[in-house]
Amino acid sequence: MSEAIEYERVGDIAVLKANNPPVNALGMDVRAGLIAGVERAEAEGARAILIYGGGRTYFAGADIREFGKPPTKPYLPDVCNRIEASPLLVVSAMHGTALGGGLEIAVSTHYRIAVPSARMGLPEVHLGLIPGATGTQRLPRLVGVEKSLDIMTTGRQINAQQALELGVIDGIAEGEPRDIGLTYAQELLDAGAPRRAVSEMPAPAPIDFDAAYDATLARSRGQISPAYCVRAVKAACDLPFAEGVAAERALFRELMETDQRQGMIHAFFSERAVSKLPELEGVAPRDVNAIGVIGGGTMGSGIATACLLSGLNVVLLEMTPEAAEAARGRIEGNLGGAVKRGKLSQDKYDAITGKALTLSTEYAALSDVDLVIEAVFEEMGVKKQVFTQLDAVCKRGAVLASNTSYLDIDEIAACTSRRGDVIGLHFFSPAHVMKLLEVVVADATAPDVVATGFALGKKLGKVSVRAGVCDGFIGNRILKTYRTCADHLVLDGASPYQIDKAMTGFGFAMGPFAVADLAGLDIGWATRKRLAPTRDPRERVPTYPDKLCEHGNFGQKTGKGYYDYAGGKRGGVPNPQVMELIEAERAELGIAPREFSDEDIVRRYMASMVNEAAKVVGEGIARRPLDVDMTLLFGYGFPRYNGGPLKWADMQGLPALLDDICGYAEEDAYFWQPAPLLEQLVAEGRSFDDLNKEAA
Ligand code: 3HC
Ligand code: NAI
Repeated sequence: MSEAIEYERVGDIAVLKANNPPVNALGMDVRAGLIAGVERAEAEGARAILIYGGGRTYFAGADIREFGKPPTKPYLPDVCNRIEASPLLVVSAMHGTALGGGLEIAVSTHYRIAVPSARMGLPEVHLGLIPGATGTQRLPRLVGVEKSLDIMTTGRQINAQQALELGVIDGIAEGEPRDIGLTYAQELLDAGAPRRAVSEMPAPAPIDFDAAYDATLARSRGQISPAYCVRAVKAACDLPFAEGVAAERALFRELMETDQRQGMIHAFFSERAVSKLPELEGVAPRDVNAIGVIGGGTMGSGIATACLLSGLNVVLLEMTPEAAEAARGRIEGNLGGAVKRGKLSQDKYDAITGKALTLSTEYAALSDVDLVIEAVFEEMGVKKQVFTQLDAVCKRGAVLASNTSYLDIDEIAACTSRRGDVIGLHFFSPAHVMKLLEVVVADATAPDVVATGFALGKKLGKVSVRAGVCDGFIGNRILKTYRTCADHLVLDGASPYQIDKAMTGFGFAMGPFAVADLAGLDIGWATRKRLAPTRDPRERVPTYPDKLCEHGNFGQKTGKGYYDYAGGKRGGVPNPQVMELIEAERAELGIAPREFSDEDIVRRYMASMVNEAAKVVGEGIARRPLDVDMTLLFGYGFPRYNGGPLKWADMQGLPALLDDICGYAEEDAYFWQPAPLLEQLVAEGRSFDDLNKEAA
């Protein structure tokens, strides 16, 4: 008998306990152990079988690490069918998270009971898959087509109470899963309850599957697995159970071969790997309870909100009482939004705004905080003044962090007497919503300060990525490059609207010009003016966006930018002035506009992103390719199903990408300088993922 399933006999009941920490994933040993356990129970003459999970959870799904490798027997659908086919009464007792294959096992048992805190779901779509172990055939028979499609296509989790109301489980009981399961199984035996097989229930009533398919596809922005769920569930209505299972299997296998599946599974593991840094092993973070925030503008108020929502006390420092009140208003607005969305109770809101938040205009108020995050204007002079004062007032051991977007953290640290305590903590706007946190490690930053940055990120529910110091760190540096590529495409013949359309077609939530309108065109304008005196003459910088700004068009906040928002923020339509300005600039520069297909645009834009990302990794600004991938995914709207720019690059093939870059370099050798790391990987026949594996 496999050790992954422990067998125990309690009277008439054979107990199968999963023992595959940490999440009882249904790897080969577990699957084999389940079949062996059922067979042994039958051979020994037990009357019922109880299945439950040891440790923190019932089965949390198939073993994702096996995906992409040749499947090994026994296959999970066969395990499900074998469990259900047992003549004994099979009962599941669920706790923790019964997800994916875990829920599929559960609905293959004849009765299900769960502890109140148990959660269930079919999250396969988040891995680019559909439930592939009979879930698309059994769940609709149990709860109907619409409800099961909702669960499958969103991948959302439901709690025990919702599962009971839907009929996914038969009861809820407090206690240890083994105890509640044994009691329930005995009750069923005593009551002479019949064996109950979901596969033998009548086929579910169909819906308009064509409409459901189209609606699902439209909602999922290019991701195909949710729409595949609709096809699989249709099979549950149209076909006898066994044929439906075969149809589900075929769809599952088809998805298993896709880049989307690879991209999403890369994202799943990278999201977890990103904060695991060998240098932090065994390094204890400093205690952080009280946070200081300096500056209560867009970022400072968002950062304060994030900290307050995570139970931290915040002291926010502004320049004047009026500015402090304005910051309070912004924070209360953010927290009020959380109350409206049901994420925060009114009581907690009152407690936070009453006690946890303090506003001040005096540095002395920061003398007791454990960590300060500076979010004042993006000017080195102002930052230096702030850090000099922090050095004077903050207690020894306090972490001093800057939220700067581009500035040199080493230079900021140098104006303090405690460079080891200084770090960059770069949040993204809105800071209480966006998941990314760049932890920017300067030359002298102490390891426990880095560990504290990661610990804070975890507490705030962020995905934290380690970045080195350079202009823009990981994310903004890469953004600057692909934005420049978009600008070049416009000068050479594409329109901003075609580029936005091509990139949303690729899966970005918004294209670069719509994003610029949202962020405010004045920011880029100021940056261009600042950089103009030191700009390399070979750099191609369009001037038409400056003219747009000179006319007061700063994007959404002024109602007009690349788009005209007269019809509301969502309904931006192309601003006709833009193409006039672009055409005038092309004429002035003597550029004959070229046709670019959407595919050309994607290829160039992505090549520029990958090339800069490879430089960022090659220079050690990002430790691993996966760090770049997670930065773009969680901070810049990169489509999860493409895995991140460097995973995408691997899937395209690095030699072809390098060829493209070298081809583009014939037109503009200054911009398209191939990244040495990319050249090296191509020469060695290796991939970015090889670098991830070497670093693991
Ligand atoms: N397979 C393999 N490893 C898994 C896994 C799985 N299904 N689920 C989690 N793990 C690993 C994680 O990678 C992590 O490993 P690490 O410690 O080496 O980084 C470890 O288990 C703990 O996971 P988390 O850090 O995520 O722990 P949490 O407590 O935060 O979350 C969880 C637990 C909710 C179960 C979460 O891990 C999760 O959502 N897992 C994925 C669940 C899932 O997608 N299941 C469906 C799988 S596909 C399937 O079943 C196909 C079938 O239909 C045929
Ligand atoms: P903002 O202009 O909205 O807010 C700055 C605030 O700082 C103002 O309220 C101002 O009164 C206050 N302030 C200025 N000097 C101060 C001082 N000496 N003491 C106390 N308060 C002072 O600016 P925003 O957008 O919040 O940016 C702040 C920082 O965050 C900048 O470094 C910026 O680069 C960075 N950042 C901005 C992002 C964004 O999307 N806006 C994203 C990530 C980082």
